[in-house]
Amino acid sequence: MTDATASGTTLVVDHPLIQHKLTLMRRSRTPANEFRLLLREISMLLAYEVTRDMPLEMIDIETPLTAMKAPVLAGKKLCLVSVLRAGGGILEGMLDILPAARVGHVGLYRDPVSLAAVEYYLKLPRDISERTAIVLDPMLATGNSAAAAVSEVKASGCQSIKFVCLIAAPEGLKTFHEAHPDVPVYTAAVDSHLNDHGYIVPGIGDAGDRIFGTK
Ligand code: URA
Repeated sequence: MTDATASGTTLVVDHPLIQHKLTLMRRSRTPANEFRLLLREISMLLAYEVTRDMPLEMIDIETPLTAMKAPVLAGKKLCLVSVLRAGGGILEGMLDILPAARVGHVGLYRDPVSLAAVEYYLKLPRDISERTAIVLDPMLATGNSAAAAVSEVKASGCQSIKFVCLIAAPEGLKTFHEAHPDVPVYTAAVDSHLNDHGYIVPGIGDAGDRIFGTK
């Protein structure tokens, strides 16, 4: 499902496999090892959707039977940008499908009072301006971290950017699309709302804690 408003595009990837696996992830009793595996599997399926418009070019090859023209990926290369620390959970599945992609990291934490994004780490490939960047963070909650991460990627000269998350809140989508109307958001679900602590409801809880078992 695609929701394109004047200020940006949200694509909800509502494939039954993704929806089933997301339900298993949401359950509070799902242990960290299963949670990580489910996130990895969903990320592979999201990778399939986010790369759907990658251009192809025809090359000449020889099969055991004959010569033929066959399609291979062409054009811009990819850079996966993981927003620390929970972005790492999506990164693993994306790299399974896109092993040749370069990887960047943006370290951001949420100020617990203002909920503003505070940056503490940034490492991006030198040639990111020649690549399409796919920025990864499971939870698009207030939208502040996502918008700040994408601003850093833009500041590095990259002009082709997509954002991938697992669950988005309507409030976060609004903030994100207002800041970056040119960057489409791919998500497995849009949930109801944020609570007073900036958590997505019904959501999955703290994604980083659930991935790493740190609660
Ligand atoms: N970050 C999380 O990990 N979970 C939320 O619900 C919101 C932000």
